[in-house]
Amino acid sequence: MSTFGDLSVELVREQLKTSRYGRSLELKESTASTNDDARAAASAGAPDGHVVVADTQTRGRGAHGRTWISPPGKDLYLSIVAHVPVALEQLPCLTLAVGLAVADTVDPYLPPGLRAQVKWPNDVWLDRKKCAGILVEGASQGDRTLPVVIGIGLNVNRHEFPEGLDTEPASLATFVGETPRAEVLACLLENVETWVDRFVSLGSAPVVESLNARLALRGEPVWVDDLKGVVDAVQLSGALLLRTDAGPRELFAGTLRPLRREERDSTLLG
Ligand code: BTN
Repeated sequence: MSTFGDLSVELVREQLKTSRYGRSLELKESTASTNDDARAAASAGAPDGHVVVADTQTRGRGAHGRTWISPPGKDLYLSIVAHVPVALEQLPCLTLAVGLAVADTVDPYLPPGLRAQVKWPNDVWLDRKKCAGILVEGASQGDRTLPVVIGIGLNVNRHEFPEGLDTEPASLATFVGETPRAEVLACLLENVETWVDRFVSLGSAPVVESLNARLALRGEPVWVDDLKGVVDAVQLSGALLLRTDAGPRELFAGTLRPLRREERDSTLLG
């Protein structure tokens, strides 16, 4: 079986504590996008918790049609087939639940005083830098909801990133030493299984409560696309409540970015 440095199916299996997630696991050296592979596997009858992991992706996808650059040997690119009874309008909340799972995974590695934050709607931040992105994709066929594909890109050991990304990037290795990917993956699958099961059985309340305790940019002035306001909190629907000059606004999608220093100064002046 294939081994890619610190990543192999055996190493993951040895450390896996889940009941379903990762029990069926495919590791590829290279693929276009693990989300596409997981969707194809779901169509072919893959079981709940089937995982596709790749050492590198040639066409990794992010939200809003963006590219997820996926060099080999360093990071984690994976997609999980989840047989969840979740309607398409609940996917934003499921995405936030997965964000919490990623945050719970990286926290134990971090130095004291540093805690991962979830940046609405689909990022995980370390010290205001993006270390993970989540792409949850649903599908339906007539009235039938098909399995959901949960895609996660987690920067583990990378030190070099492309120039000009929207958000400053980071990896776990930016803050701690080199971390074995198989260990991180086993822990991540356990946390994703826990949070997805919690969301399915208890609904959005526990997700939103935990999320608001580690919500990036809370209370700060931001842009969400071209709307300026202050981040209030995430609501039970998974929507972001933004306090704007024209009153509170509930947002169901969008790209959030903090105001730059000069934008903040001009806001304060008038
Ligand atoms: C984002 O931040 O916009 C989401 C990025 C999601 C990237 C992961 S990597 C594994 C999986 N396969 C993909 O093509 N995308 C997701």
